[in-house]
Amino acid sequence: MDIRIEKIATPKQKPDESALGFGQYFTDHMFIMDYTRAKGWHDARIVPFGNLSLHPACTVFHYGAEIFEGMKAYRTADGSIQLFRPEQNFARLNSSAERMRLPLVDEEFALKALTELIKLDADWVPHAPGTSLYIRPFLFGADPKLGVHSIDRSVFIIILSPVGSYYKEGINPVKIMIETEDVRAVRGGTGYTKCGGNYGASNRAGEKAEQAGYSQVLWLDGVERKYIEEVGAMNVMFKIGDEIVTPALTGSILPGITRNSILQILRDEGAKVSERLLSIDELIEALENGKLKEGWGCGTAAVVSPIGQLYYNGKTYTINNGNIGETTQKLYDTLTGIQWGRIADTRGWVYPIK
Ligand code: PLP
Ligand code: COI
Repeated sequence: MDIRIEKIATPKQKPDESALGFGQYFTDHMFIMDYTRAKGWHDARIVPFGNLSLHPACTVFHYGAEIFEGMKAYRTADGSIQLFRPEQNFARLNSSAERMRLPLVDEEFALKALTELIKLDADWVPHAPGTSLYIRPFLFGADPKLGVHSIDRSVFIIILSPVGSYYKEGINPVKIMIETEDVRAVRGGTGYTKCGGNYGASNRAGEKAEQAGYSQVLWLDGVERKYIEEVGAMNVMFKIGDEIVTPALTGSILPGITRNSILQILRDEGAKVSERLLSIDELIEALENGKLKEGWGCGTAAVVSPIGQLYYNGKTYTINNGNIGETTQKLYDTLTGIQWGRIADTRGWVYPIK
């Protein structure tokens, strides 16, 4: 499929790179393609960034048929641009699409479209340390009718946003509240997908945590509220004694690409790593008897984010005196080193834009 390109007449003013925040600014162009059951995906186009016009009865507004991805383009020291494991994001997009019965995309074509879009908006990939271009592909049901039926029309869009750090804390430790009432997802549900509804279901607990001064919520499993799952926008890992533990992918948590990459890095270094069930009781016990050495969250937006404090059932627990742990710092340096091209990529993870 060819991609039609319509360029913006007057490029926008670029934001100050020292105050980007997260997801507030958008580049000059976006990629769009449409799907109908009869025609398949068609009319692939890169057009000036702008509002969409959609029928008010569209499936996405009423029944939540929406999935998305999150990835980044990084500016290297020599000025070139690279992505990190983008094929994993498009594979996960299709896994989410399969669960939501949205049409799958051709993963190679999606990567080609993204490459074209980034090339056109290349000047928007920021240069300041720690900044990047956040990439948000998303796909939704667009049938203009109110019956709950299978989806015959969809739209796939990619938008780009120059970003700084996700948390106002930057790489400094964040405070996390363990949620004991609301749950995010259950096995058999959509927890392993990146669908908008998972985030909608998180809003109430997220707001409560924010009001109490916490950055995000740590979810427990949806059935017993006993096992650690993940944080709002990150997977979690804890160093208990000399074992690094992360919750196993049981179906209700997102299989993070950062999580997978960190596990590979740790295993290559010979670290003792376990993907297993981790109960809240085990975690609290390790906190109380001093065995919990470090905790961190990991994700595309959040990178590697140390957890300095946990709140659970009326009590607060400090991890590593609220400082960044040694393993956390090393992982941050290794991962960001590969992503920004400061460390050689020996695993075929880097995808240069050319
Ligand atoms: N868990 C949730 C709920 C997320 O939203 C994210 C962010 O994408 C992650 C985990 C981390 O996934 P990834 O490393 O692929 O960005
Ligand atoms: C990402 O890391 O890409 C995320 O999805 C976080 C997002 C929900 C802001």
